[in-house]
Amino acid sequence: MKNIVILISGGGSNMAAIVKVARREGWQEKWRARVAAVISNKASAGGLVFAREQGIATEVLDHKTFASREAFDEALSTAIDRFDEPGQPALVVLAGFMRILTPGFVSRYEGRLLNIHPSLLPAFPGLHTHQRALDAGCKVTGVTVHQVTADLDHGPILAQAVVPVLAADTAADLAARVLTQEHLIYPRAIADLLQK
Ligand code: GRF
Repeated sequence: MKNIVILISGGGSNMAAIVKVARREGWQEKWRARVAAVISNKASAGGLVFAREQGIATEVLDHKTFASREAFDEALSTAIDRFDEPGQPALVVLAGFMRILTPGFVSRYEGRLLNIHPSLLPAFPGLHTHQRALDAGCKVTGVTVHQVTADLDHGPILAQAVVPVLAADTAADLAARVLTQEHLIYPRAIADLLQK
């Protein structure tokens, strides 16, 4: 079994989209792959409720209870690695996980660590992407799924989707338009990887 471990910090709508597509498309039957666990650094993350309802293992690791970033990442690794199976290391999917990961963590999961970022990378890495796209006068913006490397919001691009920026858009309008695309391309990018 190829286990997928999804890391969240909030609403978890991307996580939920992945879970639903995996089920609808029968990833388990087709590729022996399943969303096995959802881990959050916040106990209040809304996505945990959905995951529990789906019978998916959940775990909360509150980063504030760790003495250092390294100690948190070490505990996170321990939680993730429980879902490795012989010859089948888990796929680690960051979905609105609002933590900067240590280089040690990133290199440990190299090639099997994915992220979604709400801009057309390499434009606008970091936070407040939608406001920055508006401020820059962009006519289009979008979302990127990429492999995670030591460089924040960089790494090989696996998928992108483009949306228009309309004249009256606020950052919230743009975020909502981009999010609908996130829910389409993240499950697709993961399916493409699993298929390989
Ligand atoms: C998404 O916009 C994602 O691109 C960004 O954080 C948001 C998470 O949303 N990194 P959700 O928790 O998946 O609903």
